[in-house]
Amino acid sequence: MKGIFVGTKPSYKVIIGRDAITQVGSLIKRAAPEVEKVLIVSDSTVAALYLEKLKKSLTVSKLETSEYVFEAGEQSKNIDSISGMWGVMAEAGFTRTDAVVTLGGGVATDMGGFAAATFLRGIKVFHVPTSLLAMVDAAVGGKTGIDLKEGKNLAGAFWQPSMVIEDTALLESLPPELFTEGMGEVLKHAFIMDTELFALLKDIAESGKAADLQKDPELLEKLVSMNVSDKVEVITDDTLDNGRRQTLNFGHTVGHVIERNSNFSLAHGVCVAKGMGIIIDASVACGRLDAEEGEKMKDLIKAFGLPVTDDITPEEAVSGAMNDKKKRGGTISVIVVTKIGTSEIVKMTPEEYQEFLQKGRTA
Ligand code: GLY
Repeated sequence: MKGIFVGTKPSYKVIIGRDAITQVGSLIKRAAPEVEKVLIVSDSTVAALYLEKLKKSLTVSKLETSEYVFEAGEQSKNIDSISGMWGVMAEAGFTRTDAVVTLGGGVATDMGGFAAATFLRGIKVFHVPTSLLAMVDAAVGGKTGIDLKEGKNLAGAFWQPSMVIEDTALLESLPPELFTEGMGEVLKHAFIMDTELFALLKDIAESGKAADLQKDPELLEKLVSMNVSDKVEVITDDTLDNGRRQTLNFGHTVGHVIERNSNFSLAHGVCVAKGMGIIIDASVACGRLDAEEGEKMKDLIKAFGLPVTDDITPEEAVSGAMNDKKKRGGTISVIVVTKIGTSEIVKMTPEEYQEFLQKGRTA
């Protein structure tokens, strides 16, 4: 198994390897010997597949387990679920030296992290992500939270995990559409900061291996490791999202609005892909990105089975962005890739943002 050090405060490790789920108990005991009780936070789909396996690993290491299993889906990401988690921990007599273990995708890591950040003013959380998206993005970096009816992720806290344990073997049985949506975040890392990753993805696409990626354990482990390293570099530089970390939002400001407008029927990674396509078109139309580079990026998104367009209007995108947590004061921070592997934050007024998007649409 491989360990990637995350130099945030507090620091922690991301452990990556096949069958890592069987080691979760011993890894927790080694990292935090004081932990006696753990609350497993998982969704109904993932729990049916892996809860017993995880519990076995925890109980073998003499950890006492409780569970909070929520109905799979973004609609569960609300304060009622958090309140339910607090209740189970209070009932089981958790103290400040106990911990939460999340098992699942981004909804589980966001909510379990938030429950841990707030219970008894903060207890440890360990993430065991099961989706590609959670492995390369949501589980790393300490963003936790819930959605409000006014918008996605509007309430939350930064709360770094004590360890992230990523079992890449789980990706092999992930439903293909979930794997594909995770590729949205993988492509994002390539575009904003990693030419080596871009070259690897291009090679995978051109050699016809994109459809079989899930069946290639070595390549999966390499891909996950490269993406975790990218994310770790960014969040170590800017843990609290005041600067460089915002580049991770490439495609997200539009993507979140598309996601919300679909009533969360469209997957996050799919909406991010659509958002990236829209921003690429606008960037090319405004002379911020070379047209050939833009085409290469869009071709790669499509090669991994993701869309690059949506019928959202610039007006809808702007009004949705006004409720997005990425808005700062009167301006919207738009992430623009200026060439493959390089990105910048461009502050735009709502009017400028609308004009920018309009140019992309009419080009
Ligand atoms: N998912 C973007 C971030 O962690 O900042």
